[in-house]
Amino acid sequence: MSAPFTLPPLPYADDALAPVISGNTMSFHYGKHHKTYVDNLNKLSDGTEYASMPLVDVIKKTAGVADKAGIFNNAAQIWNHTFFWESMKPNAGGKPKGQLADMIDRDLGGYDKFKTDFAQAAITQFGSGWAWLVADQGKLAIRKTGNAETPVSGTATPLLTIDVWEHAYYLDYQNRRADFVNAVIDKLLDWDRADDRLG
Ligand SMILES: [Fe+2]
Repeated sequence: MSAPFTLPPLPYADDALAPVISGNTMSFHYGKHHKTYVDNLNKLSDGTEYASMPLVDVIKKTAGVADKAGIFNNAAQIWNHTFFWESMKPNAGGKPKGQLADMIDRDLGGYDKFKTDFAQAAITQFGSGWAWLVADQGKLAIRKTGNAETPVSGTATPLLTIDVWEHAYYLDYQNRRADFVNAVIDKLLDWDRADDRLG
């Protein structure tokens, strides 16, 4: 049976986000970690009903199902990483404009408070996981999830994410997760993409 899930292309060159995320980190993070989730899901789903499903359906149908944890973890990590790459671009970050700026003022206490709270969510996620900006019932909210957990299995619309697994930053920042997180927020977050996701 042919493998149904594929590694989506990076939306920029390996070193496009340097120096915040080096080409070396990207070669491991995208080229090894992200690819391994794809390879694992293809092995685990081979011959099952999940092999022919869209990735998001695999995530929704296996979330919280104990004996499907392997499929869920790999499927969710494929989706989360693709979403992370598409949450960043070179020469971006900082304060957004337009409707997102207005929503941040209304729902999250202004940009400075958003930045502090989003960074704090990322820094305080104990162990591996993700920090998220989501839209939930028309309002912005900051979330954090452990391991492969993802808002995709729920009802909120993810807008941006930061990967805080150690593999995301260890080569460039060692244990300084806060420096990585703040640099991504200040220099890489793609608010134009977040705005598109808001619809
Ligand atoms: Fe990662």
